[in-house]
Amino acid sequence: MNFKIPAVCVALGALFIVQPVHRIAAQTPAHPRVTFNGQIAAIVYKNCSACHRPGEAAPFSLLSYQDVAKRGKLIAAVTTARIMPPWRAEPASYAYRDERRLSDSDIALLRDWVEQGMPEGAGKAPDAPKFNSGWRLGEPDLVVEMPAAYHLKADGPDIYRNIALPLGLTGEKWITAIEMRTTARAAVHHVLYFADPNGRVHLKPNDGDEPGFGGMRAGGATMPLGGWAVGAQPQFFPEGLALRVPQGSDLVLQYHFHPTGKPETEKSLIGLHFAKEAPSRNMLAIQLPPVYSLFAGLDIPAGEKDFVIRDSYTLPVEIDAAGVSAHAHYLASRMKLTATLPDGEVKTLLSIGDWNFNWQDQYFFQDMVALPRGTRLDAEIHWDNSAENPHNPASPPIRVTWGEQSKDEMGALTLIAVPRRQMDYRMLQRDVSQKRAMMAQQKIFSDPQLIKKIAELLAQ
Ligand code: HEC
Repeated sequence: MNFKIPAVCVALGALFIVQPVHRIAAQTPAHPRVTFNGQIAAIVYKNCSACHRPGEAAPFSLLSYQDVAKRGKLIAAVTTARIMPPWRAEPASYAYRDERRLSDSDIALLRDWVEQGMPEGAGKAPDAPKFNSGWRLGEPDLVVEMPAAYHLKADGPDIYRNIALPLGLTGEKWITAIEMRTTARAAVHHVLYFADPNGRVHLKPNDGDEPGFGGMRAGGATMPLGGWAVGAQPQFFPEGLALRVPQGSDLVLQYHFHPTGKPETEKSLIGLHFAKEAPSRNMLAIQLPPVYSLFAGLDIPAGEKDFVIRDSYTLPVEIDAAGVSAHAHYLASRMKLTATLPDGEVKTLLSIGDWNFNWQDQYFFQDMVALPRGTRLDAEIHWDNSAENPHNPASPPIRVTWGEQSKDEMGALTLIAVPRRQMDYRMLQRDVSQKRAMMAQQKIFSDPQLIKKIAELLAQ
């Protein structure tokens, strides 16, 4: 009973005190005097200029008051909608490294500045940031160059092209980072890296006059080595982790080119960083569902607004999670990976509420996330094959099944797992592949079409 009085007081107090404050807040902007020199330059230079500068992928520079004021309204709109800076991951249970996400207060400042007529402000304009034109990660241990240039026409549809480079490795190596310097920065939307441990992909004949071959499958290069999405910073794997590349491997670059309106020539340099010695612990990709949903019944009727695939996997050993990545084509709408700890607590590892094919990042955690044995991983991927999905490549929508072309779909969430004890590595690897084999078997017995599809894939 005693507690009732203070509760009533608080409620009344709220009525009398909080309300007037709210009214005042609504009348005056949250930030009274916002100027470019005062607050805006710092926000833009820190969060936007690395991509919005000459030679980078963004279509215009944001390096001066004039640059920013010219597009002020659009900037306020795309930052409020969180379209820019590009970063699809919503805040999850654990912080990510190098998060490209504006704070709510930075977004409010940008909006208020535009509403106040975009004043430049008194005083000296802050210096625009300087960018190093050389290798961002320092001198690589091995630099390889594309043997021949790929010539892009001024316009036309987007192009997927696989280009293989023999690495000439005389022993096995451990890659800690890959940095790419393209010559057609504005036309390269993203690149995925693969290794072909057999060193044979570079022998595959070119299709057409230009180097390389088409398709979303890297010609039998089976070891994914990460990638580079437009504007992304090259990065070292965290915690001294590295990816093994066997002696004699080819590196395969899978390009997504986006024509820019003028002819472009791409002949990139690729810098590889190697670990001095094999790392003491190894990474393993746990993909849910395996093989990008090949065996998960991906068959989306035309017009289906919310097609969902779910997959789970229970960890047989304790791991540290280094990061998460997501992959799907144009129709995916949202996806989520959670971990249910043995005590029942549910943690979100990655949640993307508004999937965009153009921004496929790899999200490393700020600190490794310890997941005990018995933790259940749950992945959930949604696709929207309706006409309302602005990314739908087909109009009107058509039935879509698993495949590697951009008109087909696939989808998976991948956890980068590091077994806590190196001796558990093989056990985890075996368990993951056993599960994949079981899923494949079950599916193949119930779906004769799939046998045909797999035979086709293997023949490629
Ligand atoms: C990682 C690189 C990157 C960063 C960081 C980045 N942008 Fe962009 N931005 C792009 C690219 C690339 C485009 C071209 C559109 C596309 O390809 O999706 C673009 C497009 C835009 C557009 C045009 C959108 C339209 O609809 O025409 C605006 C405005 C914009 N960016 C503002 C910003 C602002 C403001 C920031 C910082 C708060 C920022 N960008 C940070 C890469 C980036």
